[in-house]
Amino acid sequence: MLTVQRCTGMLCRFNHIPRCAISLSCVVSSKQKHTLPDLTYDYGALEPHISAEIMQLHHSKHHATYVNNLNVTEEKYKEALAKGDVTAQVALQPALKFNGGGHVNHTIFWTNLSPNGGGEPQGELMEAIKRDFGSFEKLREKMSMASVAVQGSGWGWLGYDKESGRLRVAACSNQDPLQGTTGLIPLLGIDVWEHAYYLQYKNVRPDYVKAIWNVVNWENITERFQSAKK
Ligand SMILES: [Fe+2]
Repeated sequence: MLTVQRCTGMLCRFNHIPRCAISLSCVVSSKQKHTLPDLTYDYGALEPHISAEIMQLHHSKHHATYVNNLNVTEEKYKEALAKGDVTAQVALQPALKFNGGGHVNHTIFWTNLSPNGGGEPQGELMEAIKRDFGSFEKLREKMSMASVAVQGSGWGWLGYDKESGRLRVAACSNQDPLQGTTGLIPLLGIDVWEHAYYLQYKNVRPDYVKAIWNVVNWENITERFQSAKK
């Protein structure tokens, strides 16, 4: 019942993209702990669009905290399961959602970005964007607006609706994971928590959202799109 994702550094380095970040389904024994995935680029590689200081804190402190707290919460959950303590299991759900979502979301986010990113997608993904949004520019406007409009902390997403076969733009609060709360398969996420931009962009979230398009890794998003369609 309780499933655990594993994103080992070796897996991330070997494949460049963590498999679990693609399918969110690399389920392993609940005895294994979650680990912080390595980045495939340096903290300063996304400059000037995202500063090295932000990347270092965001990855090594914020994401690491979600991972640690997820592991702690899962240990408590296992104890509650073993005792048959339903009240304790229910009480742990918000922490599982928050820390599990934080780990899943950030694991996707790092691979959505690249120092060689930016520009526009090609091929089938571009065709789907034109079909579902009219043009790439319209998608960018819609997703930027949704991301900027998130009240407080959250994420803007481009997701794939498997039932209709369509692309969708969505926004999530806090660390709510896209697939777990909406059913959409995540392709591209924009983290609009202040920890993602405040040190560089202060309170001007729209400038951060505008800049992030310069480092979007369309190769990664295309892989996710192809995988989601299967
Ligand atoms: Fe974040």
